Amino acid sequence: MMSKEGMLQQKVEDAKGLFKDRKVTICTIGLGRIGLPTAAMFAAAGANVIGVDINPEVVVNVNEGKSRFVDEPGLDKVIEEPVRLGKLRATTDFSSAIPKADFIIICVPTPVDHTKTPNYSAVISACSTVGKLIKPGSVVIIESTVGPGTVENLILPILESESGLRAGSEFGLASCPERSDPGNIVMNMKTVPRVIGAINQHCLDIVADLYETLLNIKVYKVNDPKTANAVKLTENLFRDVNIALANEFALVFEKLGIDSLEVIKACATKYNFMPHYPGVGVGGPCLPSNSYYLISEGVKAGHIPSLVRMAREINDRMPEHVVSLTSEALNEVGKTIRGSKIAILGVAYKPEIKDVQLTPMEPVCNGLARLGAVLDIYDPMFPGENVFGYTTRRSVAQAVNGADCIVMGTAHKEFLQLDLKLLAQLTESPAAFVDARNIISPKDALASGFSFRAVGRPSTSGSAQA
Ligand SMILES: NC(=O)c1ccc[n+]([C@@H]2O[C@H](COP(=O)([O-])OP(=O)(O)OC[C@H]3O[C@@H](n4cnc5c(N)ncnc54)[C@H](O)[C@@H]3O)[C@@H](O)[C@H]2O)c1
Repeated sequence: MMSKEGMLQQKVEDAKGLFKDRKVTICTIGLGRIGLPTAAMFAAAGANVIGVDINPEVVVNVNEGKSRFVDEPGLDKVIEEPVRLGKLRATTDFSSAIPKADFIIICVPTPVDHTKTPNYSAVISACSTVGKLIKPGSVVIIESTVGPGTVENLILPILESESGLRAGSEFGLASCPERSDPGNIVMNMKTVPRVIGAINQHCLDIVADLYETLLNIKVYKVNDPKTANAVKLTENLFRDVNIALANEFALVFEKLGIDSLEVIKACATKYNFMPHYPGVGVGGPCLPSNSYYLISEGVKAGHIPSLVRMAREINDRMPEHVVSLTSEALNEVGKTIRGSKIAILGVAYKPEIKDVQLTPMEPVCNGLARLGAVLDIYDPMFPGENVFGYTTRRSVAQAVNGADCIVMGTAHKEFLQLDLKLLAQLTESPAAFVDARNIISPKDALASGFSFRAVGRPSTSGSAQA
């Protein structure tokens, strides 16, 4: 930016003029699945972007114009050009980046720890460093997912005390929680409206104009950062709770001999029903942890969101159920988990995603191994690699060869068209099949000679509809 004053001191129209002329420098902190595309898209739009990450390998990779996220279509292309034009560069040196930036966008991880408590150590560390180095008038934007109130009560005081500047008049602060979906990040960042809340109206208007002008994206303004963070959490726990509901009725219907999939299909003929599906549980960096940010803030505020907590418990128990179904299916062909060779098809938490963070298939695999099974895992996103301590196979055939049971763990495209008769020939007959994702027709599985179990489907469902 050319003006002597900082970004926050600009009139909104003047700031917009600077954005239109691409006279803006942005520093993104954390160059991961969210931070890297954010940096690249602002740079591709013409801003000067400096990405900062604590991992030197990540920095080298970005400066070579490459994306390490092979499962994000289009990301390579978005990065390549701005790196070549010198619009995007990465560094591990915070002090070479933050003092130059008009906007500092925080995209560092915010996981939950083993006690399910939000771990904000990366945000605290990044914001402490930002506070020490920020120039007056710059604006800090928190894209990381945090609990409502964290920006106001944790991040703002850190920035003020480290910088000696006053929030609102001497530096700006806003929340713009990232709402993109892994596997569709580039497309989502171009199309899904951004929800923004800031500590005052002026800051809100400037940040909203930045995203609207540079990224050409719709912005939805909300009252304050905590409302923006509440929006992000509500979206994710809405899904978590609804998936838990589907899992809950699936467990009952299984016992009642009712096919949950048929129930859901029929329910969906009513105008106000939103289908959610039962399965092995939820995984990834967001859904299994985001509910705990709300639970944690609720506990502090004196109200425990019990439905949200219960939903987490239900979804977390589904892997155990899949292990039980495996035992039942093997028993039906006169075998036990102990001593059986079990082929696991898919461990990624989501189809076509190279990510096993908090995947529910990890507890399934560990549960089966603890009970004495020998596992052969295949996942097209991890061929011949190491996933949570297991070396994977390179093809379906390699994993299934000689198996007593097949467990379907992820609905990857490759698994949607399996030839079950051919698979049955590779197995150690008689063999079992457990579908933890409901992508296999029970009728076809039974016709191919497998004993069959699926989450939410009765054990005799093969005689009903496919
Ligand atoms: N991945 C998703 O699907 C998704 C979707 C929406 C929101 N989010 C949220 O976005 C945030 C970032 O998640 P992500 O998936 O991009 O994480 P990630 O693990 O893919 O990447 C995080 C990056 O930050 C770097 N980093 C860690 N601590 C740092 C620090 N103190 N300073 C600088 N760099 C640091 C890491 O080296 C890594 O490169 C999280 O709050 C997450 O909940 C993620």
